[in-house]
Amino acid sequence: MIKLNGHNKIKTAVFISGNGTNLKSLIKFSLKKKSPIKIDIIFSNNSNAKGLNYARKFKIKFIILNYKNFKRTENLILKKLKQHSIELICLAGFMKILSNKFITEFGKKIINIHPSLLPKYKGLNTHQRVIEKKEKFTGCTVHYVNQKLDSGKIILQKKIRISKKDTPKTLARKVLKYEHIIYPQAIKKIFTNP
Ligand code: GAR
Repeated sequence: MIKLNGHNKIKTAVFISGNGTNLKSLIKFSLKKKSPIKIDIIFSNNSNAKGLNYARKFKIKFIILNYKNFKRTENLILKKLKQHSIELICLAGFMKILSNKFITEFGKKIINIHPSLLPKYKGLNTHQRVIEKKEKFTGCTVHYVNQKLDSGKIILQKKIRISKKDTPKTLARKVLKYEHIIYPQAIKKIFTNP
């Protein structure tokens, strides 16, 4: 932890792959005086990720990951996390899987946001699958990352009603709006009730 304006803030890394709208909401949250986190570094496996513009705008260091050599890439991430004394990883639309070895070696909290009501609809294309199954509700979940995909302990969930008119696209937009709300709430929850 570091001293920041008299407050201890958790040094945090955010991992993204795409638009980075969750990253934006986490940055805005982190800048609040009472926020428990400070975002020190951003990783992206995609050099064209739109979300990197938020890193630029808010002058946060970012690193582009070249996943050609998986092992070497994970070792590089671990080295950077150590250099920056990172204590929390937030996955925010990060489309790569972290290995068990990585999770164990980091040894600290890793959390993720997923666009479904876990344990339902793990994996990709959740909105499409939810509509195909004619579900009445969907949602989003913030959970701890463990060795099994989208299966770690749930921290917070928001349930959202699906309308008959919803398409995967409209649903994604609806869910995303709540993702931006519950991700910061989940972080608050972790650090006020550890
Ligand atoms: C979000 O809906 C997030 O829940 C999802 O990708 C989107 C990223 O949006 N994540 C996953 O599907 C992870 N399996 P963003 O880049 O605008 O934050």
